[in-house]
Amino acid sequence: LERTFIAIKPDGVQRGLISEIISRFERKGFKLVAIKIVVPSKDFAQKHYHDLKTRPFFDGLCDFLSSGPVVAMVWEGEGVIKYGRKLIGATDPQKSEPGTIRGDLAVVVGRNIIHGSDGPETAKEEVNLWFKPEELVNYTSNAEKWIYGVN
Ligand code: GTP
Ligand code: MG
Repeated sequence: LERTFIAIKPDGVQRGLISEIISRFERKGFKLVAIKIVVPSKDFAQKHYHDLKTRPFFDGLCDFLSSGPVVAMVWEGEGVIKYGRKLIGATDPQKSEPGTIRGDLAVVVGRNIIHGSDGPETAKEEVNLWFKPEELVNYTSNAEKWIYGVN
């Protein structure tokens, strides 16, 4: 099944939004297969956001991601990469729809509380950057047959 990397950024953690964010993914029917809380180094943040290194906000973005605890997670489910981005909402919270995580819970682009992988390649790359293989848990949840309607 498809997997994506989701991180609650330092603003989301400090604002007490960990359970709110986890619960939106959990209630949807996605399965949590890895989770930890870490303070990334600036060097690590630069690796995570390497695609954006030519952007003017890159340095501030990496300073911010490494400024405090981040909740790093891997979520699994059918279509979780694309739909996870839908749950998260547009990058700029001023443009995110109400009902999305950023739309409901954030106000400015530089403090948009959550990260989600933007495609299958980056999902693989980010899961491997943040987690060792043994930190990912394979299990069947009892709810799966009700979520997917198969045995
Ligand atoms: P992530 O899930 O965090 O990767 O966000 P995204 O995929 O919706 O956006 P993108 O990867 O393009 O940008 C990464 C992060 O950089 C965003 O989440 C923002 O926090 C920040 N960012 C993007 N564009 C801007 C900008 O124009 N100004 C500032 N200050 N920050 C930006
Ligand atoms: Mg991105």
